[in-house]
Amino acid sequence: MKREGIAVIGTGLMGPGIAACSALAGNRTKLIGRTIDKARAGMEKSLQCIRQLSDNQLVGKEQAEEANDLLEASTDIEKSLTDVYWVIESITENLETKQKLFEFIDSLVPPEVIISSNTSGLRITEIAQYTKHPERTVTTHFWFPAHLVPLVEVVMSDGTEEKTALKLKELLLKWDKAPVIVRKDLPGQLANRILQAVIREAVNIVQMGLATPEDVDTSIKMGMGIRMPAWGPLEHIEAVGLDLALSVQNTVLPGISNDTVPSSYLRELVDKGNLGYKTGSGFYDWSKKDMKELMNKRDDFIMKALRIIKS
Ligand SMILES: NC(=O)c1ccc[n+]([C@@H]2O[C@H](COP(=O)([O-])OP(=O)(O)OC[C@H]3O[C@@H](n4cnc5c(N)ncnc54)[C@H](O)[C@@H]3O)[C@@H](O)[C@H]2O)c1
Repeated sequence: MKREGIAVIGTGLMGPGIAACSALAGNRTKLIGRTIDKARAGMEKSLQCIRQLSDNQLVGKEQAEEANDLLEASTDIEKSLTDVYWVIESITENLETKQKLFEFIDSLVPPEVIISSNTSGLRITEIAQYTKHPERTVTTHFWFPAHLVPLVEVVMSDGTEEKTALKLKELLLKWDKAPVIVRKDLPGQLANRILQAVIREAVNIVQMGLATPEDVDTSIKMGMGIRMPAWGPLEHIEAVGLDLALSVQNTVLPGISNDTVPSSYLRELVDKGNLGYKTGSGFYDWSKKDMKELMNKRDDFIMKALRIIKS
């Protein structure tokens, strides 16, 4: 049987969005859940992702209808993997569970089938530790919401063959994604290392009393953040001159956080039970702020930005 399909395992927050992207790229896509109810609910979420993209003119009506037809919900891993050339694991972030699943998938599919994990924080080298063919295993880290955010980090394990990563990069470009290859299997992959540096200093600024949480967020959203889709930090220092960048580092770096342990301020908030939105307060008082509105604003902004990027 010719292997032409893709399987996405996991029907939580991420799996359905990834499956939607796969189907929109023209792949017959199986979304696999542990129970038929979970698989069907996951597929409904995939269809919603496609609808959202179509309603916002990010994909054509015909493409959306074709994608809907290419999606299938299943609970049967063995049967689902008989005709796929790529298996994407997007289940709970637990090393042992992922290791068992990888070992099982590896035993089912021939070595040319790529097996990737959507892990945000685990090392793919360890996830694939019990596979016979680690050279075809890799991380493909989609960002939430997967059907809207273009970035996919393709992280190579100690054993991933370069051709596996290069093939995925080529495929993901055809999916209209923005894949980047990360050549070392380190915590934080690529983009989360940068995000953590930003979060560390954002928390530090609040702790120092330099600015309020609101002003910290405004300074990012309305300052560097608004130009970043077109202007990366390295492009920025190339534009201003590396000599100037060096002298700014000389002045600013000694005064900013270089903590290598989690923030004491963050720990205090957590110890007091102020976990953010889910408990009603953290840096913000959520009785005065609307998370749903914020999420809608985020998604609307991303969709507007995508329309500009695609035009
Ligand atoms: N949530 C995010 O923002 C985000 C972003 C990027 C990557 N990730 C990563 O994506 C993966 C999935 O995250 P999520 O947020 O969708 O998790 P989730 O908890 O929302 O969903 C996980 C799903 O996996 C299923 N599952 C667990 N064990 C399974 C098994 N053995 N076989 C089949 N299904 C199984 C659960 O039933 C659940 O539906 C994780 O590795 C996570 O780190 C998450």
